[in-house]
Amino acid sequence: MVMSIFKNSNDFQRYNDIIKKIKEKILSHNGLIRVITHHDTDGLTSGAIMVKMLYRLNKEFHLSIVEYLSKEIIDKLGDESKNNNNSNNNNSDTNSNNILYIFCDMGSGQINDILNNKLDAIILDHHPPVINDLEFNNILQLNPHIFGINGAKEITASGVCYLVAREFGFYDLSILAITGAIGDMQHKPFLGVNKFIINEGRKYRYIIGILKDIIYNCYDLPVWESMLYSTQPYIRELNDKEKIINFLKKFDIDPNKTILDEKDREKLEIALRSCADKNDIIVDRYIIKHKINDAYYLSELLNACGREGIGSVGIGVALEDDECIKIAKETYIRYKEEIIKELKDTKINSLNNIEYFFGKKGTTGLVASILVKDKPVLGIYEEGEYYKISSRGNANLVNRGLNLTVAMKIAEKYGGDGGGHNVASGARILQTNLDDFLKNVDEIVGTQLGDNIKK
Ligand code: C5P
Ligand code: C5P
Repeated sequence: MVMSIFKNSNDFQRYNDIIKKIKEKILSHNGLIRVITHHDTDGLTSGAIMVKMLYRLNKEFHLSIVEYLSKEIIDKLGDESKNNNNSNNNNSDTNSNNILYIFCDMGSGQINDILNNKLDAIILDHHPPVINDLEFNNILQLNPHIFGINGAKEITASGVCYLVAREFGFYDLSILAITGAIGDMQHKPFLGVNKFIINEGRKYRYIIGILKDIIYNCYDLPVWESMLYSTQPYIRELNDKEKIINFLKKFDIDPNKTILDEKDREKLEIALRSCADKNDIIVDRYIIKHKINDAYYLSELLNACGREGIGSVGIGVALEDDECIKIAKETYIRYKEEIIKELKDTKINSLNNIEYFFGKKGTTGLVASILVKDKPVLGIYEEGEYYKISSRGNANLVNRGLNLTVAMKIAEKYGGDGGGHNVASGARILQTNLDDFLKNVDEIVGTQLGDNIKK
């Protein structure tokens, strides 16, 4: 029962009201529906859920994938909306044909810009909202934080999108919500609403099974390649082909096997004991009704597409298009090769409470998250007059008080913007302000963690 998600009956009632209004707003809309979503796995699965839902509802729609919902983008949408409304008003034959905007995995942090542009909008987000209301002006906002549900741990944007899709009975889309949650690293373990979605997916048999297995069986690649390209875990001692093949042969495992049987699994688990956490090696695999039948592998393919700038191919993968799946598998290998190279080459700089490095667009976030140990790590790359920053922490640091959302938001003082989640956040700042920005972030993180991290 969806009621089990909520802490009290009042929240459940408020949820019921807003979800019915969202359903009605979509159903009664006659004109174009523009879906704007984020380029990472959670954004792409959110977009795919919306596309499937709107297609089935016979709606006219258009999907855009963006790296970040900036003021400039929202202002452009505002101009588009105004022009569209003006031309409708000039045409007496057209009745209400305004554009409805659905923002997925973004919008709650940019709500003032959306309001200023008077957009008719639905926001389906899991980032901490600037305004804690479900409804105001022309906007309906579904966001777990409003119900006291943690959007960094218990549900992602694709989960929020699924809550809308399930109102129409589209329970098959639960597999995309779960894939999005894995992409946002909410699967260790799945909690709260994520668990509810898994149970629903299982009940309707779209999640076919959950099995304890070795992580390297998730991919349809020879085991040596699965080991080389896996970044969860990333094993520094085994970071090239030759080392991995020798290692596997030493333990009498055929490097070209795609699926390891129980005997191989046991051998490899023991062999890896000294260099990786057992919980990263033996994982819960979610087997889903999809051409890519492992939710983790699907999330990895989508992440590679999004980060390599071909999010539309990722949408095609989610929609099970064979050509897109082929391109995504090639892109995954290329992307992971880049990550491995960066991990070998990256030079880390250290301040009192943070570490940072200069990297490349598309890879800084993942590289930063792999490098986090005792201090949060910031990956930085140049774009035009800006530096773009991905900051990553871990559960241990968050338990000690780390909140990267707060730290990245100070980008506003340095000619840019920032936000995200306590454990993973991003920002952009004007290039000239980098030193001051880093110094300020270092101080904020120091205060959050209560003292300077011991070096
Ligand atoms: O916009 P969104 O919330 O989906 O982005 C969060 C990003 O942070 C994702 O790309 C996700 O993979 C990353 N992340 C991370 N480490 C975590 C949680 C999220 O790198 N512990
Ligand atoms: O780009 P990256 O993966 O590092 O983003 C991490 C999180 O920070 C995402 O949730 C993203 O939406 C958010 N972010 C933001 N403002 C920015 C850049 C990223 O809120 N300027």
